[in-house]
Amino acid sequence: MSLGSLQPAADSLAEFGWTEAKLSDADYDFLCQLIYERSRIHLGADKRVLVASRLAKRLRQLNLKDYREYCQLLRTAAGAEELPFLIDRISTNHTHFFRELKHFEFISQTIIPAWNAVKRRAEPFRIWSAASSTGEEPYSLAIHLAEQFAPAESGRWQIEATDISTRVLDVARQAIYDQERLAGISPDQLRRHFQKGEKKWAGQFRVKAELRQRVIFQHLNLLGGTYPFTQLFDLILCRNVMIYFDRPTQETLVRQLSAQLVPGGYLLVGHSESLSGVKHALKLIQPAIYRKTAP
Ligand SMILES: C[S@@+](CC[C@H](N)C(=O)[O-])C[C@H]1O[C@@H](n2cnc3c(N)ncnc32)[C@H](O)[C@@H]1O
Repeated sequence: MSLGSLQPAADSLAEFGWTEAKLSDADYDFLCQLIYERSRIHLGADKRVLVASRLAKRLRQLNLKDYREYCQLLRTAAGAEELPFLIDRISTNHTHFFRELKHFEFISQTIIPAWNAVKRRAEPFRIWSAASSTGEEPYSLAIHLAEQFAPAESGRWQIEATDISTRVLDVARQAIYDQERLAGISPDQLRRHFQKGEKKWAGQFRVKAELRQRVIFQHLNLLGGTYPFTQLFDLILCRNVMIYFDRPTQETLVRQLSAQLVPGGYLLVGHSESLSGVKHALKLIQPAIYRKTAP
């Protein structure tokens, strides 16, 4: 997947009265440079229309005349406050429940049995959903683990979920999804793990409180340097985010993620995000599944 796979919203362009001339080369270069510095998202020349489209609504919200004014704002002290909105508009948050189902099968068939074999100790099974977007990934994990562990063992697993976008984190914490977003959920899972909305909430479902409480969301830029965790993870999912980063950034990120894994822990990446060509010390187990070997 690339940013280019998303079409610019024709409506937002027309609504804004946008023409390509308004986003000058100089302003586009400035935005690309800033976005790269702050998020390591690399935008090529072909993404100009897309970027203009994604920012059009933001300009209207801020009452700005054109992209030049927007770039000027980003150069001022107030720009620091605007930056998260800029990154949020540019990064793609698309996700869905039980995305890349093979990973979930691998978790139940291989990872948990291996963990059970060596680790039936006091520590819980710890998972990190490292670019969790609107919550579908960590809640899918929570549903899956609730089905793998007996109810009496519910304290034996923990999920941390992080994202750079505060907007998607707010959605994730709310955990309310339209019915059409629940295509990956079986009727039985829906009954057991979701609360059906009524009256003004009709057509929507909320993840039940007992599952919501099992997922801890926090804001984190994966490329921001340090991570806030005090314990290592048995499993990290960093899926469909590395695709935005260039090779050196991917290498740094994989090294930092590996350092957060216990020996024998697993890293799952998106199926379109092979680490071939990226230097790392993990063992490839299956496509998009890597393992940290014991020292
Ligand atoms: C396409 S979604 C992937 C969601 C989920 N992992 C999946 O595979 O369905 C990519 C997410 O990565 C987040 N993201 C982009 N850059 C990031 C960064 N530097 N640190 C943390 N999250 C980032 C975006 O905000 C977005 O929510």
